Amino acid sequence: MNQISPAMADTASATRQPDLRRVNANPDFWYPVAWSSDVPKGKTVGVSYAGMPIALVRPEEGGVFALYDRCPHRQVPLSKGLVKGQTVRCCYHGWAFGRSGRCIDVPYLGKGKLPNGVRTFPVREAGGLIFIFPGDPEKADTVPFPKLAQTDNPAYKTKHFSPRVNCHYTFMHENLMDMNHQFLHRRQMGQIKARFLGQDRGEDFIEARYSFMRSAGQQPLAERLIFGKHKDLQGKEQPIEEVVTIRTEYPYQTLRIVDKDGDLIMDLWVAYVPQDKDQRETLSFGLLSVLRPQTPLLIDVIWPALGWFTNRIFLEDKEIVEMEQAAWDEVGHDRNVEIFPVVRALRELLIRCGCPQDVKQQTAATQPEAETTA
Ligand code: FES
Ligand SMILES: [Fe+2]
Repeated sequence: MNQISPAMADTASATRQPDLRRVNANPDFWYPVAWSSDVPKGKTVGVSYAGMPIALVRPEEGGVFALYDRCPHRQVPLSKGLVKGQTVRCCYHGWAFGRSGRCIDVPYLGKGKLPNGVRTFPVREAGGLIFIFPGDPEKADTVPFPKLAQTDNPAYKTKHFSPRVNCHYTFMHENLMDMNHQFLHRRQMGQIKARFLGQDRGEDFIEARYSFMRSAGQQPLAERLIFGKHKDLQGKEQPIEEVVTIRTEYPYQTLRIVDKDGDLIMDLWVAYVPQDKDQRETLSFGLLSVLRPQTPLLIDVIWPALGWFTNRIFLEDKEIVEMEQAAWDEVGHDRNVEIFPVVRALRELLIRCGCPQDVKQQTAATQPEAETTA
């Protein structure tokens, strides 16, 4: 049996790369921060990106805008304020801030010079999500906006989910990319083996393709209703019935399942959004599009079963990635022994595209700058 060499045993030092768990997410991308339905007209809601408080404001007329969520007067969250016309009024003394972040009214100031305003963030809304661009706003127009599963395709029904997980976002990328961990899900899915079919990679992406073979146990009901019944081969080599493609295209991740006829039957899109300054807490936003079966309404019948099934699997993954984070916290550095080439390449990609913590970030993601209106 092949031994793991000492050099392989510590991938971080072997390649002289920064510790993956000390690599911040790159803020120069579009990140979802809330569901559209959570920010109704005339309301403001506080969200977060990597420790940066952000107030999302949806006036009665016009789109959402995003401001740094601290009033320059006494640092009270503007998201506790009142939306009036195209402004949000701080709940304390009523200073009003508009879309541009400028302070446009101080109720008791009279004719005096208006004080500083607050930083704004570019905003886009799509697929039921509100996105902000936390990095350099100059780049917002040129950085590509992601394709959000099949949210714009009526042939699919899309499920929304946004679980909070207490770990660095990179554990989430590794967990989904690595289909060799089906062992963990044996109680939910029966004994299935992933067959690695190949990979593809580029400067900012990596994808791995797998098919699955059931070696024992029953096919779960939700899976059977969506994919149809798989042949029962009792552990014999099984023909490839579906191909699962998992892709990290920085900073997003997708999982697509194509059936034996070449139809895309499931399309999952996920973004992992760091919440705290140390990026140890992640809010995942997921869109899971499922091709509607021929029989009308069948999708609505199986929907709860699918939700239950995916949630059970997710809870197993959540427990694992949080244990991985706890182990990292214990020793304070990454001691992983990674032997699967796809995950090794993924780790390099996340380092290459991310922002190692010791490198001073140019963006204002951690250092908000107030804009002056004088
Ligand atoms: S703290 Fe916001 S107006 Fe005074
Ligand atoms: Fe999993």
